Amino acid sequence: MSPTLSHADIHSLKRNEALEILAQISRVEKKTFPTNEAFGFGEELWRKKPNTRVLYTTRANENTARSDLVGYAVYVRQKGVALLHKLCVIEAYRRQGVGHQLMSYIQERLRKEGCQYIQLWVDQAREPAWALYRRCGFEEREVIPDYYAPGRTGIRMVLDLARDG
Ligand SMILES: CC(C)(COP(=O)(O)OP(=O)(O)OC[C@H]1O[C@@H](n2cnc3c(N)ncnc32)[C@H](O)[C@@H]1OP(=O)(O)O)[C@@H](O)C(=O)NCCC(=O)NCCS
Repeated sequence: MSPTLSHADIHSLKRNEALEILAQISRVEKKTFPTNEAFGFGEELWRKKPNTRVLYTTRANENTARSDLVGYAVYVRQKGVALLHKLCVIEAYRRQGVGHQLMSYIQERLRKEGCQYIQLWVDQAREPAWALYRRCGFEEREVIPDYYAPGRTGIRMVLDLARDG
């Protein structure tokens, strides 16, 4: 049986707990992405930005009786559209269904909140992410060469939450 995952929003935590999770996410972010693509996971995300949501996934650890952070995501709500800025699974936990579960959680949550679409841009070179989004039902709407940098193509993808419900 696969280990149990839990998904939550940092806004459901008390300040100190939220800051601890943000600090952990920040460390993973710096290891995973080049400096110019790393998102800043500062305290203001918890305090001041109600349209910006940071979600995270933990997995029960039988040895320590604690939960380990295994993934996270960031989106911004703009009326009926949520812009998914980030989705990341810690390297050691990849290819175990974490990304897919986290994405399902995001979809379900946004659908309940009355959101209509999720939109994102993905670097064509990030094959695992591109494949995950396709698997989750996202459709390609636009392909822009040199979108991220010379030679790095950006693909705009959209998921219609009403249709894929
Ligand atoms: C993209 C990412 C979040 C996927 O997370 P994950 O937990 O490994 O994904 P899952 O195990 O849930 O895989 C779900 C589906 O995605 C696709 N997928 C995931 N990793 C893949 C890979 N390395 N190669 C091909 N397809 C892949 C497959 O369709 C997979 O379904 P399957 O296992 O039934 O074949 C993870 O690779 C990651 O964090 N990458 C670095 C950060 C990043 O690029 N983020 C996106 C830009 S912000």
